[in-house]
Formats: sequence, structure tokens, C-alpha cells
Amino acid sequence: MTDTSQKLVAAIDQGTTSSRCIIFDRNGAIVAADQREHRQIFPKPGWVEHDAGEIWSTVQAVVAGALARAGLRAGQLSALGITNQRETTVLWDRSTGRPVHNAIVWQDTRTSALCTELGGADGQDRFRDATGLPLASYFSGPKAAWLLDHVPGLRERAERGEIAFGTIDSWLIWNLTGGTDGGVHVTDVTNASRTMLMNLETLQWDASVLAAMNVPEAVLPQIRSSAEVYGTAVGPLEGVPVASALGDQQAAVFGQACYDPGTAKNTYGTGSFLLLNTGNRPVPSKHGLITTLGYKIGDSDPVYCLEGSIAITGALVQWFRDQLGIIGSADEIEPLAASVEDNGGAYIVPAFSGLYAPYWRSDARGVITGLTRYVTRAHLARAVLEATSWQTREVVDAMYQDSGVPISTLKVDGGMTANGLLMQHQADVLDVPVIRPRVSETTCLGAAYAAGLATGVWGGLDELKEHWRRDAEWSPRMSPEVRDREYGNWRRAVERSFGWQR
Ligand code: G3P
Repeated sequence: MTDTSQKLVAAIDQGTTSSRCIIFDRNGAIVAADQREHRQIFPKPGWVEHDAGEIWSTVQAVVAGALARAGLRAGQLSALGITNQRETTVLWDRSTGRPVHNAIVWQDTRTSALCTELGGADGQDRFRDATGLPLASYFSGPKAAWLLDHVPGLRERAERGEIAFGTIDSWLIWNLTGGTDGGVHVTDVTNASRTMLMNLETLQWDASVLAAMNVPEAVLPQIRSSAEVYGTAVGPLEGVPVASALGDQQAAVFGQACYDPGTAKNTYGTGSFLLLNTGNRPVPSKHGLITTLGYKIGDSDPVYCLEGSIAITGALVQWFRDQLGIIGSADEIEPLAASVEDNGGAYIVPAFSGLYAPYWRSDARGVITGLTRYVTRAHLARAVLEATSWQTREVVDAMYQDSGVPISTLKVDGGMTANGLLMQHQADVLDVPVIRPRVSETTCLGAAYAAGLATGVWGGLDELKEHWRRDAEWSPRMSPEVRDREYGNWRRAVERSFGWQR
């Protein structure tokens, strides 16, 4: 049985492939957790959808599951925090509470042509000054515009105020706080910064971008901080304050205690996302990164980040398992890759949804280069893992070019950090130590921290920093000659991936 005299905080992490709920104690230690997957819907090549109703049911189930495992009632939770896959777009009917279409997932490329059209003569960076983002199918605003144009009658209903837009945080908070019976329609600055509709300076919806993208303001949620009480939950979580929302990568920044400018983390999930805290001012990128909100705690000043977004890293291991069948489970890749000394000359560039940072090339497609009869499945396994560390090296180089500050160590988290071979290669190709914290569930932890700050469970950032503990560290071992030669080969392979989708 859990000690119920303690203050406990629950966090929901609604991710791309699954939802989880984790309950933390005051020391940031895990009390109980539950997780469930949801369906991935692929209606056409390049299209990826989720059923937002299924996501809501799954979230309710994992909350109940975590409470049951801990032997707790909802009333024993001090607060609930939300973190979520970012950019995934839901439009729903305010009166019925039903989504008007499947959610369009961040990886979906259906808006590529719309983005080119929106760029017009100004090109990909038309909205970069205002929003920090290049025009790319990744972001929510064009996804909302696509839905408004393609679901019959939707634009008229939206203009009449009958339709609500949200990223997954908004969808969950609206449902948690009552849905059609008084649910609050809000988002936080981190999620809003991924829509391409929010102005980075004012932290409000940008009227000129809304007009250019033809998205009516009537559909949009109110933008709030990342840590404040948005409302009180109803139903099974009756009475629990819903007190934080952060995009999952920003929640990992918060959970990794990257509170000082110059600190950075990389999360290895479906894709990988490296975020560098740049302090209270947005730093524009000239080298293919994006400028995004890191977090905003209540009334305090916002914290900004530079982000290197990589679409496919862990998903390449899944592809190697599910589409090629070379391994039977994801954890088989490490011993297979470790059975050979090197990649045998093979490189895999997983440009399955084009390439994100630092290239933003929607015309790129995946390539395997350097094949000879010498290459075995073990060399390919090695090339799969190395694709993650080389893509990370490219965003670290761009971070340095943009900020002028070299990264001296890299804090890492996410599922792939269990792979020691990959983490060693990551340290080798960056030539800096790679450090993993003891609590690897940093995304949920960050959302819990923010909710606990908003409700007085924790007193401030210094207290949270004290919780951070090192679990493992990998130091660089590769010679500069090998590193430079391999990096050159990787970059030549990347160039071969351009121009396949015309
Ligand atoms: O921007 C997309 C990112 O938020 C997805 O994260 O961990 O759900 O794959 P994840």
C-alpha cells in the first residue's frame, strides 16, 4: 500500500504510440504506472491518423490502472499534469464533444503541397520571424486548415463558433474538466508554439498568420502558462486540479532539470528531439533548427529553447523489425550490432517522412548506401543505430552554429537510452560525455513537476534540481580520424536521399 500521508502527483503522457499515467511521490520517485497503446491509422502513403476518441478512452484507462496499482483514490492526488505528443491536430464539435475527423498526426505529410503554396514567393521561412518555425507539414496550423477545407461544411460551422481546435493537451484538458458540460478550452505556450499560429514574442495567436492560413480565431483555445490550475477534473478524477500542460519534449527538458541557459537534453523515442535552453529570449535559428517555447511557470517569464527535431530514430528500429523482419524484438538489435566491429561500409538515412532538422527537405526519402557482398544483417543493424547518433550530431552542429555555445555534455532520456552500444556511439560521434538520469521517465516527471509547482507540492526549481541523479555515463573513445571519416560518409549518404519525391 502507498503511504497516503505523502503528497502525490500524477502525470499523463499521451504519446504517439501509447498513453501512460505515472504517479510520483514528493522525491520524484515513481509510485505506480500504467501504459496502453492505441491504433496507428495509415489511410494513404504518408498519411498518419489517430482516433481522438480512442485516445481519450485509453487515457482514462491508464489513469484508473495507475491508481489501482498504487491502491489510491483520486482524492489522494494533489495535482494532475498533462504532457503530450505535439502538433497532432484534433477538431471537435463543441456541442456533442465528438471529433469531426480522425486526428492528423505530426508525422503526416498531406499538407506538404499546402505548405509550399503558403510559402509563395517568400518560401519556407515566411512565418519564421513570427513563429520560429519553417513551413513544413510537421506543424498543426496547416493541418487545421486542411481539415477546414476538406471536411464538408466544417469551415462555416467553425466560423459560427461551433468547432474547437486543439492539440492533444487541449483535447484531454477539455474532456477531463467536463467536456460538453463546462470543459475548459485551453492550451499552454509550449503546445501553442508548435501550431505555427502563435507569435513567439506576444505568446498570443498571431492575427496575420491566422489570416494567411485562413484559420478562424473562433476555433482556437486560450493560451495559458505551462503550470497553473486550468480547472478541476470531473468523473473518476473528481476534484483533482489539472495543473500543467507541456509538449512532451519540453516536459523532458523540465524533468531533466535543464533550467539554466546552455543546458540541453536529447530524448530518443519514435524520433529524437534535442532541446537547448536559451533563456528568456527567443533565439532565431539560421542553421535549420526551430525556435520554440521551453516552459512558462505561472506568471514568471517564459523560457525559450532551440530545438533540433529528428522525425525517425526509434521508428527505424521498428521498421527493421516489422517491415524487414531482420530482428524479432527491438532489444535484439544491440547484440546483433555488437557482433561486428563496425558498419561494414553501410549507412542508412531514414528519411521516411522527408528530413526534418537541419534540412527540412520534404522531397527526401530513405536510402541505404555502401552495400557490398561483405555487408551482413549485423552491419545493417549497426547502421540502423548509427543513423540515430549521426542525425543527432547534425543537430548538435547546428546548435553550435546558431548559439556559439558548444555542448559540453548531453543529458539523454527515452527508450533507446537503454541501448549501451548506441549511447557509446553517440558519445563517440559528438566527442562529449553522454549522461542518463536515474529516472528515465523524464517526460512524465516534467509534467508532474510543473503540476506540483502550481499546487505547492514543490517550492521551486532549486528543490527540483536536487532530485536529479546520474545513472550512467558514456565517455568518447573514437579517434578524431575515424570520427571525421565516418561523418563525411554519413553526409554523402544524406545527399543521396534528396529529390526522390517529386
Ligand atoms: O513533435 C513530436 C513529438 O512530440 C512526438 O513525441 O515521444 O510521442 O514520439 P513521441
